[in-house]
Amino acid sequence: MAGSDAGLLRFLTCGSVDDGKSTLIGRLLHDTRHVMEDQFRSLETDSRRHGTTGEDVDLALLVDGLEAEREQGITIDVAHRYFATPRRAFIVADTPGHEQYTRNMATGASEADLAIILVDARKGVLTQTRRHATICALLGIRRIVLAVNKIDLMEYDEALFNRITAEFSAFAEKIGLGEVVAIPVSARYGDNVVERSHAMAWYEGPTLLEHLETVDVQSDLATRPFRLSVQWVSRPHADFRGFAGSVATGSIRVGDEIAILPAGRTTHVDRILGPDGELDEAHAGDAVTITLQTETDASRGDLIVHARERPAVADQFAARLVWMTDEPLLPGRGYLMRIGDRWVPASVTALKYRLDVDSQEHLAARGLGLNEIGEVNIAAGAPVAFDSYADNRATGGFILVDRFTNTTAAAGMILHPLRRATNIHHEAPSVEKAARAAAKGQQPTCIWFTGLSGSGKSTIAKALEAKLHASGKHTMMLDGDNLRHGLNRDLGFTDADRVENIRRVGETAKLMTEAGLIVLCSFISPFRAERDMVRAMFPEGEFFEVFVDTPLEDCIKRDPKGLYAKAMRGEIPNFTGISSPYERPEFPDLRLDAVKGPPQDAAETALKLLADAGRLAAASA
Ligand code: ADX
Repeated sequence: MAGSDAGLLRFLTCGSVDDGKSTLIGRLLHDTRHVMEDQFRSLETDSRRHGTTGEDVDLALLVDGLEAEREQGITIDVAHRYFATPRRAFIVADTPGHEQYTRNMATGASEADLAIILVDARKGVLTQTRRHATICALLGIRRIVLAVNKIDLMEYDEALFNRITAEFSAFAEKIGLGEVVAIPVSARYGDNVVERSHAMAWYEGPTLLEHLETVDVQSDLATRPFRLSVQWVSRPHADFRGFAGSVATGSIRVGDEIAILPAGRTTHVDRILGPDGELDEAHAGDAVTITLQTETDASRGDLIVHARERPAVADQFAARLVWMTDEPLLPGRGYLMRIGDRWVPASVTALKYRLDVDSQEHLAARGLGLNEIGEVNIAAGAPVAFDSYADNRATGGFILVDRFTNTTAAAGMILHPLRRATNIHHEAPSVEKAARAAAKGQQPTCIWFTGLSGSGKSTIAKALEAKLHASGKHTMMLDGDNLRHGLNRDLGFTDADRVENIRRVGETAKLMTEAGLIVLCSFISPFRAERDMVRAMFPEGEFFEVFVDTPLEDCIKRDPKGLYAKAMRGEIPNFTGISSPYERPEFPDLRLDAVKGPPQDAAETALKLLADAGRLAAASA
C-alpha cells in the first residue's frame, strides 16, 4: 500500500574501488552488524590471503567477492544489497566500480533516493567526481552525500575537508544539483561511517549512517499521474484476461477510465487483484493484475494510464544520453531501446552536443565515447508512450542496447517529444509496389556487394547487371564512388560517416525496389551493424548479401585506384583494411572468391543465387 516504503531508503555509491567504495559499503554492512558471523570469519581468512590492509580485515573483499553474482544479463549490472537498522531499512544499488562506472551508476541510479559521491581526500574533486555529480543531476537524484574518504591519510585535516567541500558545492550549484551534505570519513577505520570519529572533533555534522537514517525522502510517486507498464498478460483460461505489472506512479480505482498506450484504446477498470486478493484501489509500488470492463487488447510493454492524464506518444523525441560502452555511439546506427517493458528498434538521428563535464560546455561532436554525456534526437521504430524524465523517472527513462553484444550501451532520459515527426504520415501510393513489379515482369530485389576497396565488387556487380539487363530485367546500380559525388558528398570516411553513408544507400535502394527494380549495391560497408540494418529494411527474401572475399594482400597488389599505396604512405586516413576496420560477414548469402577467376564467372554465380531463390521469375501482381 502507499507509504509502506516510508522507512526505506534506496541509495547508491559513486566512485571507484580506489576511492574506497567497496570498503565503505563493507564498513556500513559490518558496523551495522549486518555481516553474518560466518561470513565475517571467512572474510578474516580471505583478507589475510588477498587483502591489502595487513592485519585488519579488508572490508572491500566483502563486497568485491560477490562480483560474479552480477553477470545477470543485459540490463542488470547492479546487485542490490539490503541492510537495516532499528530506524530504517536500506537498499544499496551496488555497482562494480571499475572503468565502466557510469554504466553501473546510471543503471542503479534510476530508482535511487540518494547518492553518495566518494572522493579520495588525497585527490580532491576530479573530473570523475564532476561526471558522477552531473549524472546524478541528469538522473534526478536530488540528495547527495559527498563522502570525503581516506581523510586519515591526510591527518584528519579540517581545512582540506573544507576546501574540497567548497569546491564541490560550487560545482553542484552550477549544475543544479540539490542538497549536498559533506562528511569526512575513513571507510577503512570506520571514522564517521557508523561510529563517530574521535580523531575529528572539529566535525559536528552527522555520521554517514545517521544521515542515511534521518534524511527525508518523502516519495512523491503517489501524487503523479497513474502509470502501469504491462509486464505480462495473464490468461489462465479463456474467460479471464488480466494485465499484470507494478504501479509505477499514481493510483487507480475500480471503475476508473483508462487508456492503453501507445494504441490509445480506452475502457474502464473492472477488477484489481493484489497478491492477497481483490482491491478497490492500487497505489505506486503495488504489484497488481488489472482486468478491464470491455475486452481490450493490450500486450507486454503497453502503458496503462488514466484516460485524462496521458503521457506523450511519439516515435521521435529529444533525450540526454549517458554512453556506457567502449563501442562509441554512432548516429544512424540501429540499437534496441527498452522503455519500461517495451522493446523497440531505435537510432540516434542527431547528436546535438557532447557535454564537457568540467566546464559544462556544450561541444560539437560526431559520436559519444565511453562515459560521455550528450543530447540527442532519437527515432524509434514504432510509437512509444512516455513522460519527460523530469516529470516521471519511471516512464521517461530508457536504455539503448547494442544489438550484437546485448550490452547496455546507454542510459537515456527523455526531454520532450519532437512534434514535427509525429505530424509526418505515410502517404499511400496509388500504384502499389507489387503492381509496379508485375508491370516489369520481375521481383524487386536488392543485391548488396560488400568487401574491401579494390576487391572487385563493382566489377562483378556491373557484370551481373549487364546479364540481368540482357535478359530483359529492369535494374539500377548504386556504387560508393558514384553516390559520394552526389547524395553523399557531405560524407567522409570516419566510422560515423560510413554509418550514415550506408543508411542513406539502404533507404535509396529500398525506394528503388518499391519502384519495382532489381537494385545492385556496391559498397565497402565495413560494419556488420549497418549491413544488418539494411537487410532489416527489406521484406524477408528480398535482400541478398554477397561478400566479395578478396584477401587484403590481393587488394593491395591490385590497387586499381592507387589508394592503398597512398594509404600506406599515411596520406589517406581511416583507409579500410589499413587504418580502419572491415568486419567480415558471418553469414552472407553468397561468398565470392574473386581472385580465383574472371568477374564473369562470379557474376554467373550471383545470377544463379538469384535464380535459385526464385527472384528472376515474373512476379504475380
Ligand atoms: S563505405 O565504407 O562507406 O561503404 P564506400 O563504398 O561508400 O565506403 O566508398 C569506398 C570508396 O571510396 C573506395 O572504393 C575508395 O575508392 C574510396 N575511398 C576514399 N577514401 C577511402 C577510405 N579512407 N577508406 C575506404 N575507401 C576510401
